[in-house]
Amino acid sequence: MSKMEVKTSLLDNMIGVGDMVLLEPLAEESFLENLKKRFDHNEIYTYIGSVVISVNPYRSLPIYSPEKVEEYRNRNFYELSPHIFSLADEAYRSLRDQDKDQCILITGESGAGKTEASKLVMSYVAAVCGKGAEVNQVKEQLLQSNPVLEAFGNAKTVRNDNSSRFGKYMDIEFDFKGDPLGGVISNYLLEKSRVVKQPRGERNFHVFYQLLSGAPDDMLKKLNLERDFSKYNYLGLDSATVNGVDDAANFRTVRNAMQIVGFMDDETQSVLEVVSAVLKLGNIEFKPESRVNGLDESRVKDKNELKEICELIGIEQTVLERAFSFRTVEAKQEKVSTTLNVAQAYYARDALAKNLYSRLFSWLVNRINESIKAQTKTRKKVMGVLDIYGFEIFEDNSFEQFIINYCNEKLQQIFIELTLREEQEEYIREGIEWTHIDYFNNAIICDLIENNTNGILAMLDEECLRPGTVSDETFLEKLNQICAGHEHFESRMSKNSKFLNDHTLPHNCFRIQHYAGKVLYRVEGFVDKNNDLLYRDLSQAMWKASHNLVKSLFPDGNPTKINLKRPPTAGFQFKASVATLMKNLLTKNPNYIRCIKPNDKKAAHIFTDSLVCHQVRYLGLMENVRVRRAGYAFRQTYEPCLERYKMLCKQTWPHWRGPAREGVEVLLKDLQIPREEYSYGRSKIFIRNPRTLFHLEDQRKQRLQDLAALIQKIYRGWKCRTRFLLMKRSQITVAAWYRRYAQQKKYQRIKSSAIVVQSYIRGWKSRKILRELKYQKRCTEAVTTIAAYWHGTQARMELRHLKEEARNKRAVTVIWACWLGTKARRELRRLKDEARSKRAVTVIWASWQGTKARRELKRLKEEARRKHAVAVIWAYWLGLKVRRDYRKFFRANAGKKIYEFTIQRIMQKYFLELKNKMPSMSPIDKTWPARPYLFLEATHTELRRIFHLWRCKKYRDLFTEQKKAIYDEKLEASEMFKDKKALYPSSVGQPFQGDYLEISKNPKYQKLSTLVEEKIILADIVNKINRANGKATPRIFLLTKNSFLLADQKSGQIKSSVPLSDLTSASMSAQTDGFFAVRVKEGTPAAAKGDFLLSSDRLIEIVTKLYRTCLSSTKEKINIEISDEFLVQFKQDKVCVKFVQGSPKNGSVAACKRKNNRLLEVAVPSP
Ligand SMILES: Nc1ncnc2c1ncn2[C@@H]1O[C@H](COP(=O)(O)OP(=O)(O)OP(=O)(O)O)[C@@H](O)[C@H]1O
Ligand SMILES: [Mg+2]
Repeated sequence: MSKMEVKTSLLDNMIGVGDMVLLEPLAEESFLENLKKRFDHNEIYTYIGSVVISVNPYRSLPIYSPEKVEEYRNRNFYELSPHIFSLADEAYRSLRDQDKDQCILITGESGAGKTEASKLVMSYVAAVCGKGAEVNQVKEQLLQSNPVLEAFGNAKTVRNDNSSRFGKYMDIEFDFKGDPLGGVISNYLLEKSRVVKQPRGERNFHVFYQLLSGAPDDMLKKLNLERDFSKYNYLGLDSATVNGVDDAANFRTVRNAMQIVGFMDDETQSVLEVVSAVLKLGNIEFKPESRVNGLDESRVKDKNELKEICELIGIEQTVLERAFSFRTVEAKQEKVSTTLNVAQAYYARDALAKNLYSRLFSWLVNRINESIKAQTKTRKKVMGVLDIYGFEIFEDNSFEQFIINYCNEKLQQIFIELTLREEQEEYIREGIEWTHIDYFNNAIICDLIENNTNGILAMLDEECLRPGTVSDETFLEKLNQICAGHEHFESRMSKNSKFLNDHTLPHNCFRIQHYAGKVLYRVEGFVDKNNDLLYRDLSQAMWKASHNLVKSLFPDGNPTKINLKRPPTAGFQFKASVATLMKNLLTKNPNYIRCIKPNDKKAAHIFTDSLVCHQVRYLGLMENVRVRRAGYAFRQTYEPCLERYKMLCKQTWPHWRGPAREGVEVLLKDLQIPREEYSYGRSKIFIRNPRTLFHLEDQRKQRLQDLAALIQKIYRGWKCRTRFLLMKRSQITVAAWYRRYAQQKKYQRIKSSAIVVQSYIRGWKSRKILRELKYQKRCTEAVTTIAAYWHGTQARMELRHLKEEARNKRAVTVIWACWLGTKARRELRRLKDEARSKRAVTVIWASWQGTKARRELKRLKEEARRKHAVAVIWAYWLGLKVRRDYRKFFRANAGKKIYEFTIQRIMQKYFLELKNKMPSMSPIDKTWPARPYLFLEATHTELRRIFHLWRCKKYRDLFTEQKKAIYDEKLEASEMFKDKKALYPSSVGQPFQGDYLEISKNPKYQKLSTLVEEKIILADIVNKINRANGKATPRIFLLTKNSFLLADQKSGQIKSSVPLSDLTSASMSAQTDGFFAVRVKEGTPAAAKGDFLLSSDRLIEIVTKLYRTCLSSTKEKINIEISDEFLVQFKQDKVCVKFVQGSPKNGSVAACKRKNNRLLEVAVPSP
């Protein structure tokens, strides 16, 4: 089954009525009561048909979340409870899907929530329309235009902390898919008088305060401004800060928004400069100065301020100063210059400030339009949002209120026109007969104001343009003359005697009966405000500014384009722009949002009946409801209607198979609703009276309860039955399982008993067999025994018989023997006699011994054979027994195999891993992979050793013969000195070069090289130690194949030459010094001079080479002695050389000193 769709309706869970059209009875009281009830339940939105009434909650409600946007997205207007999103959604979808341009008209008095509503609509549309980088940028620019315009066009008033002081109409343009392309903003009538003066408790436009509190210090300095509000005359002081508003933060927001909208940095800077200039204009003050001709004149008091302004906008100070003091009137080629008195100067200053600011505002709007302009030229769909001041009725109403209320009259007019048109179109579309609707048409009031010949605005213009003295009073007089007869115009002084005694109507006022109520206007200021004059001298001065923006704001100041015609009046301009607006709106499908302010305190939860009643009246909401209800109060397409009420009739419940319209017909007939209460349209059912609808709703509610009870009943029954069936199934399952379990148990019991019985029987049988076998065995044994006994007896008898026989034989034998003996003796005697019988006796003896031995051997063999048989049988028996006993342990073998296998695997893995992690081939590389298992420790270490040996071998194999010789030498040195002499480690890194002096090549030693014929093995400078004082003399030390020589370092003259065969030993200390003694064999010619005590840093090399050369040439080793004390033979004396640790004078070098006749002491620096 697909997802179940829950159909909801506005009518569900309604608080009061969600649509005022359904109000019963329709009266002002019930209207207010319904609004209040809904407001108290946080339902701030209520419909009048498709019009949304919005009551300002003055607190944030959780009804604008993204989830809510999703909830209202693509839903029908009446499907959910009233909401501004519903209207926005309807408008957007009808724009996108039906290609109808839309306009959203938001009206209401100041603080009622129009601007908030317009922002909500824009943000809703932004949330539901297309997405993508480009589209998002357009959306962002459109949304960010709001903070910029609000900063410059909004101000705190007593009615609203963020009151829009201008009317705004914004066209948002979309492409065919409904993605935003851009927009166009139009602004209406900025309240510029606020720039120079604000009523008590109100502020100037936000931007001034934002600039002063939010701009960084350096920016303020650049603009010549100070942070203190009180320094500026144009800033009302009594409410300079507004609760809950952070001007500084807002300044940053605005600058950021300007950047997003596309303002360049220098543009923003220029705008702020103009704002500063306006602010500073307020500080210019004038003082009177009398001229000789009696004319009043004025002068600027403090020129400093003037100078700063001129610097800001780039005007020559004198030009501006002159513009504040003179006025030039040009008429028909005549130029008349008059001076301005102080009051006129102030008037001029304020007019300039107002003009500058309002022109800047218009420039801003144009600049934003340039940024948000749609880039494509294709046809666009348009949604207009109008946020304009609502009807204003104050105690003191002036020109502004008059203009505003005129605009609202016009809006009401198109509202009526369009609502009726829409209603009528729907009736025609649906084929319902049109019944005339009685309503109030305010065209007559519009005519009173805008009629071109005798409308109020036309007369005001006429009055302003008329030559001669013109004043507000003359204007009123004119009105009194011309409009007196108009039924909506009231004035005390008119010819209409009806009002002569009406004291609620002061003399300087006139009253108009607007569609929303009567409004009393005071004529003071009408003419002046309509004129909206800026002296031409001032606009010309501004045009001369070098500041680009200021110059562009005053094109009328260009002297080459002087237009002697008066500029159009404010009223005329407004009328024209309203007419354009109306024309624009008429081409679009209107959507209305009527905003209501619930109290004057800007507080939540307070609903002041009188205040709301007043607004309901002047917004003409009752009129709205009446128009909506004139024909039929409620209409709905057939499908949802049938869906909603089908449960009220048996034929349509639960399913109606035919067309929906027929279903509705059957339904209504069945319910016996009077025929005049409804009509069938083509696609909709029209219900005349809300009562009928509520009757249907009540019945539905009742029926739903019944149905709910029925569903509940069936559901409960179903639930119980399901539960019962489940329990039954469970019981069967449990029983089956239990039975199975019990049978299993029983079976196991029987099985184990059978095994016991079986084992007993088997045991008994076995025992029986065993007994039989044992008996048989005993029988066999008995038989054997008996047989043995029998054989024994037989044998014994035989033996006895044999013995008897033998005895007899022996007797015979004895006799025989005796005889033989006798014979033998006789023979012996004879033999003896013959004396040669000895050998024969021996032979006889040996043969007898042999017989005896053979007999014994036979017996022993027999015995051994028997013993062996017994042992074999015994072993076989033991084997059998062991096999039987140990059969059960056979698995143990497997364990061993697994163990062996595992070990094998581990070894294999270990070897493979080791292969991959082998260290480098460098013999000095100390790394070796970690051992994975403890038991491999020995192997691991051994492998490491073998590997190291092998790579050393590889390394050695790479040596050339030459290198080998060098290493041999180094090795020899190591064997001799390693761990014996402290100087050794420093020599390890130095290669042994041998010929350091390059004797053959160096011309200095040419003579020396000719003297030495053999190849030089070593040549270096050494120090020879003088035995007398221990001083060192440098000498050339030469070592050749057969001898060593010492020569003078400078002259190259040979001082001594010793054949190597004459050397016996070399001695040196164990320390870091380079002293060494070379000893000469006693008795040789060289010995006459004595031993040599030398010192050299290359001691290790010299001694090693000396040793090796001696060995190779003489085949004899010289002795190497390492000791800290040794004797040296100098000619006759033996001197002891002793090495001590100490710090010699010249630092790190060892020093030798003669201590006494027999002692040379060498001080070696301690390491
Ligand atoms: N829907 C809303 N939810 C919460 N607060 C609101 C809502 N609508 C308006 N307000 C509050 O009311 C204040 C006034 O609203 P808003 O500025 O829209 O009035 P307005 O009708 O535009 O008045 P004006 O004609 O002076 O410009 C807002 O600053 C805000 O605090
Ligand atoms: Mg506003």
